[in-house]
Amino acid sequence: MGSMERLSLGIEGFDKCSDGGLIKGRTYLVCGEPGSGKTTLGMQYMLNGLKHGEKGLYIAIDEKPEQIIENVTELGWDVAHALQSGSLEFIDMTHYFGNHRLMNETSSTERIVDNIIRFVEEKAIKRLVIDPIIPAIFSDPNNPNIAYFLRRMVHRLESFGKCTALFTSPTPVGSPMYSRSGIEEAIVSGIIKLGFAQPRERVVRTIAFKKMRGSDIDLTTYNFEIRTGTGILLRQPL
Ligand SMILES: Nc1ncnc2c1ncn2[C@@H]1O[C@H](COP(=O)(O)OP(=O)(O)O)[C@@H](O)[C@H]1O
Ligand SMILES: [Mg+2]
Repeated sequence: MGSMERLSLGIEGFDKCSDGGLIKGRTYLVCGEPGSGKTTLGMQYMLNGLKHGEKGLYIAIDEKPEQIIENVTELGWDVAHALQSGSLEFIDMTHYFGNHRLMNETSSTERIVDNIIRFVEEKAIKRLVIDPIIPAIFSDPNNPNIAYFLRRMVHRLESFGKCTALFTSPTPVGSPMYSRSGIEEAIVSGIIKLGFAQPRERVVRTIAFKKMRGSDIDLTTYNFEIRTGTGILLRQPL
C-alpha cells in the first residue's frame, strides 16, 4: 500500500481488494443491474463515513430520500441522529431543480454541476453519493454533452480533493456493461461492478473491482449477501 490516504467502503474484507480502500478525493463508479445493491452499497459507504466523523451527502434521483431512509432502517441502520445533526444530508434532485432542466439542458446541467460542487465545498462534505449519476445531470441519456460535463464534474471534485464520491450507474439486466452510455467508466478513477451469477442451482449476488487507478487491485469476484444489521456481507470468491 502506498502513501495515499484511503477510505473504507464499510464492507468487511473488501478493502484489501483495492489496496486498502478508495483513494481520498477520487470519484468511483458503482454499476450493476436493478436490485444488485448499488443503493445499499452507497448507504453502507455513507454510514462508514459517519462512524469516522465524515460528513455525507446523498443525492437521490430514482428513489425518494424518505424511501431510502425507510429501506436502510429496515436493514437495521439508524440514520436518524445523523440526519438530525446534519452530518448526513439528502438532496432530492427532482425537487431541488424542478423542471427547468428540460427547457435548456446545457445551462441547467452547468448549474446543477456548479451547485453540487459548491454544496460539497461549503459544507465540507467528505463522502458524496450520486445515485444514479447520468439522470442527475442530464434528462436525456443520449445527450452529446454528457462526456464534457461528466469530465468537468469529476475534474472539479478531484481537484478539490477532499471529497470521495461514488456515482452509481444502472446497467441493463444481465449486461456485462458498466454504464448505458459507455462514458462514465472512462472518466472515473475506479469501478465496482455488482451483479448476479448462478454458479450452481442458486442465484448469488456478486461484487468485484474492475478498475482502480493508483492501486494494485485484486480482481476476484466475491459472493455477497445483504443482511439485516450488516448490509453487504462478503462471502467466498465466486
Ligand atoms: N433487510 C434486507 N434483508 C435482505 N435483503 C435486503 C434487505 N433490504 C434490501 N435487501 C435486498 O437489496 C435489494 C435492493 O438493493 P438496492 O441496493 O436497492 O439495489 P439497486 O440500487 O442496485 O437497485 C433488494 O432487492 C433486496 O433483495
Ligand atoms: Mg438503487
